[in-house]
Amino acid sequence: MLSALRKYLLIPRLIRLSSAAPKDPLTAWDRYWGNVRSTGATGDVLWDSGSSHELEGYLPKFARMDQSLPMVDVGCGNGSFTRLLAQHFPHALGLDYSANAVDRARQESGDITTASFAVRDMTAPDAGRTVVTALEAAGWTGDANVFIRGVLHVLDSKGRAALAANLLPVVGSRGSVFLAETNFPGTPVDYVSHLGATRDSIPAPLEWAIKGLPMPGRFGAAQRAKAFPTADWNLLEEGATSIETRPLSNPSDPDLIPGYFALLRAR
Ligand SMILES: C[S@@+](CC[C@H](N)C(=O)[O-])C[C@H]1O[C@@H](n2cnc3c(N)ncnc32)[C@H](O)[C@@H]1O
Repeated sequence: MLSALRKYLLIPRLIRLSSAAPKDPLTAWDRYWGNVRSTGATGDVLWDSGSSHELEGYLPKFARMDQSLPMVDVGCGNGSFTRLLAQHFPHALGLDYSANAVDRARQESGDITTASFAVRDMTAPDAGRTVVTALEAAGWTGDANVFIRGVLHVLDSKGRAALAANLLPVVGSRGSVFLAETNFPGTPVDYVSHLGATRDSIPAPLEWAIKGLPMPGRFGAAQRAKAFPTADWNLLEEGATSIETRPLSNPSDPDLIPGYFALLRAR
């Protein structure tokens, strides 16, 4: 009983750390990405495992997508999934509203010719049109698939609905949306404890995220139903998945966050 309560001793430290995060989400994300020194399995970024293992688990779902279409990676961060997606689709376009994230993604993607990146706010009123322009700049016209990982759970419900509506002109009649999000069933204290935080120590990539970013929410079936209404979207498949983090509790394996995936097509 006492040991179960011990995690609540973390609360003052969490409040102190998170009070330093910029209140404006774009400022927070751009500053976060500007401060990242390294990525991958030993890097600063909590959700970058440096491995293709999580994506490989999604490949059977991708088999239901039209894999002759390009893939748009919405909220691509440093582009680790964009680069992996470029191995399974003819082109992968990574979009993020943080210019520092897009700079970093471009640097890390070096000579990969089938991946490109652009700065876009996917909740902006004209994002549907400006994504199409970014695809055209990469040499693609017509419908595209969309991949979203770890983005909807950081948006509020208005942002989620705006982002989903912006995807309708991108996917058209042939493209699909695959999303994978964290869906942790507990309080923020439970969440950080799950990732190894104690009163005495917090894994560095987790501490960076707490210090620099807005507190994430969860995104599961209920949130998906609200953001992707059945009037606009057909749900092809949904279920539980695991979002893999950079190794935290031991050096060789990623830690796992309970997650949710869905595959959707526009009506
Ligand atoms: C948790 S990170 C996930 C990055 C990447 N999808 C991955 O899984 O490695 C969330 C990303 O979403 C981006 N983001 C948040 N809101 C956005 C918006 N409105 N438009 C575009 N990108 C956004 C952030 O800048 C950040 O890079």
